[in-house]
Parts: sequence; structure tokens; C-alpha cells
Amino acid sequence: MRLSEIARKIEELKKSRRAVILAHNYQIPEVQDIADYVGDSLELAVKAIECEADVIIFAGVSFMAEMAAVLNPDKTVLHPEPDARCPLADFLPPSMVREYRSKYPKAPVVLYVNSLLESKICADYVVTSAAACRLVSKLEDEVVMFGPDKNLANYVEEVTGKEIIVLPPYGHCPVHEYALSIYYVNKALELYEREDPVLIVHPEVSKDVRRLASHVGSTSQMLKIIEEIDKKRTILIGTEEGLTYRARRLHNDRRIVPVNPRAVCIDMKKISLLSILRSLERLKYRVQIDPDKARKAREIIETSIEIMRR
Ligand code: 13P
Ligand code: SF4
Repeated sequence: MRLSEIARKIEELKKSRRAVILAHNYQIPEVQDIADYVGDSLELAVKAIECEADVIIFAGVSFMAEMAAVLNPDKTVLHPEPDARCPLADFLPPSMVREYRSKYPKAPVVLYVNSLLESKICADYVVTSAAACRLVSKLEDEVVMFGPDKNLANYVEEVTGKEIIVLPPYGHCPVHEYALSIYYVNKALELYEREDPVLIVHPEVSKDVRRLASHVGSTSQMLKIIEEIDKKRTILIGTEEGLTYRARRLHNDRRIVPVNPRAVCIDMKKISLLSILRSLERLKYRVQIDPDKARKAREIIETSIEIMRR
């Protein structure tokens, strides 16, 4: 079937099923184009709550679809490719959270949303990259445990000035750690030297890379920052390559280039138009969460939002 035919069928089924498609900023171009909403983890979680739909098709990795299901017990949440998982989450099994808790009983546990549901429900707070610094700075505690991303933990420590115990000390996203290492960043800065580049990065990059960047933020915060940068300068995107497509669509008068076009999250890229169509046709794969776990996760998320509002 041709892509245009698949897209037409998706549009038809979306109407008859009262469905919306939410897509993360790293999705492939045709998935971003057909989505009703494209955003970062925080924006998509908010959209999942706000949208008036019976069915949510979540084009992202499994923890994102899981969060949409946790926050919307009355909607059908479908994940077209259940194998699309975030490897960063696997660095922190729930047993490790419990182990750290008994080692540091006074420090609260803050988990990045890129984590397993079983680990999240052992935590005190859950945050996205857009909100991590804000939440930690609002806590009264001066020593905080944070995981599973060591680079985001280090960024939170730097911004908030609090002592962060990183759990575990080696958790990382392979895309940001290796395909966006200082080697590739220096190469890109050298390649575009004559264009006076401005480097903007995601907080999952290493500290060395962060030091070279003018701005650090979640994927959607990176998109917003572009508006404030001098139009004559080239923007270097220091995150997964899918954000470059989105940035170019939103800012088509700008020169925007990826640090490394091979910085690809293979899990994010597993979702295709065809898998979305199959998902809508068969109402598969439904994200089903144990109600007790969902209730616990909702309580932790609500507490986290409450702290951030203070
Ligand atoms: P954002 O919430 O910034 O979109 O990040 C999600 C992610 O997986 C980054 O690698
Ligand atoms: Fe996970 Fe990294 Fe992919 Fe984001 S880019 S979903 S952190 S593996």
C-alpha cells in the first residue's frame, strides 16, 4: 500500500473510532505529519489528559504510552509497537530503588519518567526532563536521589545546587551518551565553524557536551529556544535526529542542522504509518496497567505536580 493510501485510511479510522494520535518529537516525519499533536514527554502527558477522545494512539516508547494509560484510566490507549522501549529505563530495576532507599533512608527518590513503572511506584516523585530542575529545587531536602539518567542527574545537581545521589551512577541513554559524545559535537562545531553555530542540547548529553552548549532543555524547550536565537546563526541540534525535522517545520526560515544525523533512537523509529493503521484497525496493542499500580503511580505524579505548583 502507498503511504498516501495508508494516511487516508488512518484519517478515516481516526474519525470513526474517535481517536487521536499523539507523537513524540523523535518520531519519523510521516508519523509527525499525521499526528494530532507532537511534543515532549510532558506535553504529551498533558495532551493525553486534555484530549476529548475515546482512543489514544501513542507514537513513542512504551513508558510514554504507559503514562498516558496511567493518567487516563477511562480511555483506550494503544501502543502500535509494544517492542518500542527505552533502554535507559532498564538501568533501574525496582529492587535497586529499594536497595538505595535502605542505604539513604532520609533522601527522597526522584525518578525520571524514562523509567519502569515498577520502579516509579517505589519513588517519591516522578519528573520529565522539562520539569526535573524545577521539582528538585522546590523540595526542602538538600540531599536527593535521582535516576536512572546520570547526565540528567548531574545537570539537576548543577542547576539546583543540591547534593544528588545518582541511582545507579552509570545509567544513560545510548543515543545521547555515544552518538552525541564530545567527539561528534566537536566535529560538528568544526564543520559549521564558518556559520557561527549555536549548540542547543538535551540534558541527557554528557557534562562535557553541556559545557559547550548555549542552551539545555527538553525537546520542546529546545524548539522554543530557537525563537530567541539570532536569525543569522546556524542552529546545531544536540539530541536525537528526529527533532531536526520538527525544528525545521516550525522554523522554516532558519538553518538548522543535527550534530550527528546518525543519532537515531531505534526504538522511537519502530513506529510507522502502517503500524498506526493496524493499531487503529485492530484496536491493538492496548496498554493495560494493573489498577493498583496505576493508582499508586497517579498518586506519585499528582504529588509531583503539586510540589511544582508551589
Ligand atoms: P523529552 O521529554 O525532552 O522529549 O525527552 C524524552 C526522551 O526520551 C529524550 O531522549
Ligand atoms: Fe530512551 Fe534515549 Fe530513546 Fe529517549 S532517545 S527514548 S532516552 S533511548
